[in-house]
Amino acid sequence: MQGMFRACCPIKSGRFYSSLTVKSLYEQVHRARHDSISIHGWIKSIRILKRVAFLDLQDGTSVNPLRIVVPLTTTDDAQFLKNLKTGQTLSVSNAVWQDTPNREQPFELQIKRPIDSIQLIGPVSENYPLQKKFQTLPYLRTLPTLKYRTSYLSAILRLRSFVELQFMLYFQKNHFTKVSPPILTSNDCEGAGELFQVSTNQSSTASSYFGKPTYLTVSTQLHLEILALSLSRCWTLSPCFRAERSDTPRHLSEFWMLEVEMCFVNSIQELTSFVETTMKHVINACVDNQEELLPKQFVSLQEDEASSRPSLDQEKQQIKSRWQSLVNEEWQTITYTQAIEILKKHHNQDLHFQYEPEWGQPLQTEHEKFLAGEYFKSPVFVTDYPRVCKAFYMKQNSTPNDTVACFDLLVPGMGEIIGGSLREDDYDKLCKEMKERGMNESGELDWYLSLRKEGSAPHGGFGLGFERFISYLYGNHNIRDAIPFHRTSTGSINF
Ligand code: 4AD
Ligand code: MG
Repeated sequence: MQGMFRACCPIKSGRFYSSLTVKSLYEQVHRARHDSISIHGWIKSIRILKRVAFLDLQDGTSVNPLRIVVPLTTTDDAQFLKNLKTGQTLSVSNAVWQDTPNREQPFELQIKRPIDSIQLIGPVSENYPLQKKFQTLPYLRTLPTLKYRTSYLSAILRLRSFVELQFMLYFQKNHFTKVSPPILTSNDCEGAGELFQVSTNQSSTASSYFGKPTYLTVSTQLHLEILALSLSRCWTLSPCFRAERSDTPRHLSEFWMLEVEMCFVNSIQELTSFVETTMKHVINACVDNQEELLPKQFVSLQEDEASSRPSLDQEKQQIKSRWQSLVNEEWQTITYTQAIEILKKHHNQDLHFQYEPEWGQPLQTEHEKFLAGEYFKSPVFVTDYPRVCKAFYMKQNSTPNDTVACFDLLVPGMGEIIGGSLREDDYDKLCKEMKERGMNESGELDWYLSLRKEGSAPHGGFGLGFERFISYLYGNHNIRDAIPFHRTSTGSINF
């Protein structure tokens, strides 16, 4: 049995059972060949000529489709091929490798008799919606069960998976421990009151399952602080939930946050330099794998954008050069106070923001987009925000007065993708700040305060909105496409 298995599937990578993946076949280009290949996938397109048919198969493992060349020697063969439709699931066996060095695809598979080698294992209905015609993202978003069969959207999920892995490898190499903090919590880490409360479906116990109000976490930071004070360096990638009423392309009710917490950092510059190095490492890995990560087809972002969208080549080129300059160029850093000065100057001279920039007020998305996208045209760290604009746990600066040691990373087209800070480790200052904000009135955060008394250490960390980062990399600024099943303030959850 083992021998037979080897004989019909000599390729090792991607082989767990008798079928190969399309990706594993592409990995074999320029390597040893094999005689009899079995593969599964969905029909991407089919073109029938007089004596031959070209079947393009995709299986979601690669941006590259697999070309299968089918000779049409009998009328039965021709009829069999004519009955095949885009979207159907096929099992193909006894296919033979053929090098095609001068074509776009470096090889194709050839089969002798379609009736013997092709088995239809999943039919489609007459009105299967993913036909070859031009598709727009708003249309694809109406097809949540099918949209990831498109080259454009499956590529974003593979990019996300790849980026996750790169972070993991980088953190592991730098002695961070991946931890799994809880989703259910009794605290509101950010203090913004945008919480989903959890209850059971049994009305008698609805509010009392845990004996007190319990929420879905908005950030795992407070738990990570406990763990960092044991492990020195830890990180997680966890779902976070915010009951914000923001129906924008940058907001989700359920999103994933990559959070890092590390001890023995003493300045915000140490943190921002760690962030820049880490992000550049991950983006560099994307550059090294760009041909396998970027899709073969782009779709229109808007219903009416079809004509104004750059060509496929231009679009790909733009992404590649953005990735390259993100790696090559030094990212900018300014203080919040400097940011307000720049914004005020432009507000008075050549621009008119909807919200007037004012020291002591949070930066609005329009301000963030201007700073990163138009002023610096690069990622920019904005540091040292006013204390009142930020959460209770941030370390207070001695100068400038009434600011905290924090940063936001802003990127062109998206605005904020990371928020981070040093954490206040002075027990008295933290108590005072919490009291001023009306927090911890019944001692619910005493455990957090106690960390400052039991083997405390200077520490800090940050949270990266994972969908925002993936969307930014991919050049699609609607983060709803960077998560398979988006939950937003305006959409009901149907499955
Ligand atoms: O700036 P935020 O609120 O920071 C925190 O939660 C810190 N406790 C993180 C930390 O220091 N460990 O959120 C961090 C990032 C934002 O910069 C943004 O990218 C993303 O999370 N984010 C959202 N992404 C999608 N939808 C939302 N509703 C988001 N809210 C925040
Ligand atoms: Mg923030």
